[in-house]
Amino acid sequence: MNKRVMVDMSATIIHHGHIRLLKKAAEHGDVIVGLTTDEEIVSKKGYQPELDFAYRKEILESIKYVSEVVATPWLLDDSTLTKHNIDLLVHGDDNSNDIAEEKLLIFPRTEGISSTDIRTSVMNVLAQKSSRNILLNPGPATTTYSVKMAQVVPDICPREYEFGDLMEYVSEELTKIVADPNDYVSVLFGGSGTAVVESVLCSVVPHDKTVLIVNNGAYGKRMCQIVQTYDMNYIEFESSPIEPIDLTKLEDTISNNSNISHLAIIHNETTTGILNNLDDLGALAKKYDLDLIVDAMSSYAAIPIDMKKQNIIYLMASSNKNIQGMAGVGFVIANKKAMQKVKDIKKRSFYLDLYSQYENFLKSHQMRFTPPVQTLYALKQAIIEAKEEGIENRYKRYSKSWEVLTSALKEMNLKYLVEDQYHSKIITSIFIPDGIDFNHMHDYFYDLGFTIYPGKVADFNTFRVANIGEIDYNDLNEFTKYLKGYLNNDNK
Ligand SMILES: Cc1ncc(COP(=O)(O)O)c(C=O)c1O
Repeated sequence: MNKRVMVDMSATIIHHGHIRLLKKAAEHGDVIVGLTTDEEIVSKKGYQPELDFAYRKEILESIKYVSEVVATPWLLDDSTLTKHNIDLLVHGDDNSNDIAEEKLLIFPRTEGISSTDIRTSVMNVLAQKSSRNILLNPGPATTTYSVKMAQVVPDICPREYEFGDLMEYVSEELTKIVADPNDYVSVLFGGSGTAVVESVLCSVVPHDKTVLIVNNGAYGKRMCQIVQTYDMNYIEFESSPIEPIDLTKLEDTISNNSNISHLAIIHNETTTGILNNLDDLGALAKKYDLDLIVDAMSSYAAIPIDMKKQNIIYLMASSNKNIQGMAGVGFVIANKKAMQKVKDIKKRSFYLDLYSQYENFLKSHQMRFTPPVQTLYALKQAIIEAKEEGIENRYKRYSKSWEVLTSALKEMNLKYLVEDQYHSKIITSIFIPDGIDFNHMHDYFYDLGFTIYPGKVADFNTFRVANIGEIDYNDLNEFTKYLKGYLNNDNK
């Protein structure tokens, strides 16, 4: 009579490693598979198996090396062998069954394969498939596969020290991109970019002082709407959405209003792509001893900024644009000395109060209220990748995409709003040719995997293309080829 040889396995995902083990076991006798039950897998491995016991059994019974399949617990002992009349247990070299040595036969595992490996590669395929949407909207931007996957972490309470360490890393590294962490600090909020613009405006301007806001697009206008909501003293300096700010006029406004304490501007006005000149505006702020507030939402982590050199006291950005993370975190990078001045200003907001959030972070490395946990893990990974690429190289990559875009636009005789010399090279507002409907064009490109964005300047019929995120000039090349085809009526 043949020996009865048991091979124990879960076989949740059957692969060639199992087959090779069964084949070797069959050389020693009749193979009885000890198949782990569903309940044991749930309790010992912590997940419901992909295939129920009955299906796993059915598959194994149809393998020619297998004579019988019996239900077994996760760990075997001599009593299991006795119960099934087993002479020998065959196992891979990761055996942890408590079996007498003379009844145990160990074979090395097949290298390079396990059910866990297969699960990981399935996840990779899914994530890679989903990573190739080319987002040409100005954020949230296309992200890397590794940033997406960084969100899949064990559940954690954000009040644990481990999470505080993550927050500390993120905060310090965000600062380093534009300033020295000895003098500046990043204060993070759960919220979109607007939340942190609002936080700064409502927290840092004393009640008896005036903030001067430059409005040369939708985001400058939004700053005015925010301070109106808080009933604050402000002066709106309206400037053309497509021409550089008239600095002489701006200086006149400042010198005619002695109550102004803060100057608030947008760096890259995402409405049009006009880049406001930080060197000039910083020098002007310094000359009049104004605290400069910069909304760098769509320039931070792409266009190099030096807060100290450019006299910037507060800078706001978010997790989902050029830093290439997920949406959900807004942050303020603030001069530490200035934060001491903010301390005594009577609070206008509870949740968005900048000093309270800063003070709490100093004490505990925590946000005051529940943070977007997984977004912060993704942000950490995005920061690591931004450091690997380098901000200057990132801007070179973006600029190359922009060159590809704009030279194709020029070939197609399509005009865009801002002259190249004033352009951020990040987002371009393009005139829609007569006879073209934006929504139709959007849907056409969306089906091809490209997301384009509507224009935002009332007087001009435009659409916008941003060249940020994990895309490059090849993607813009492909997009412009389709655009040529579309405008040549291939869409009809
Ligand atoms: C310059 C600028 N400021 C503020 C915002 C607002 O950010 P959010 O939409 O994340 O609130 C944006 C968004 O695109 C922006 O481009």
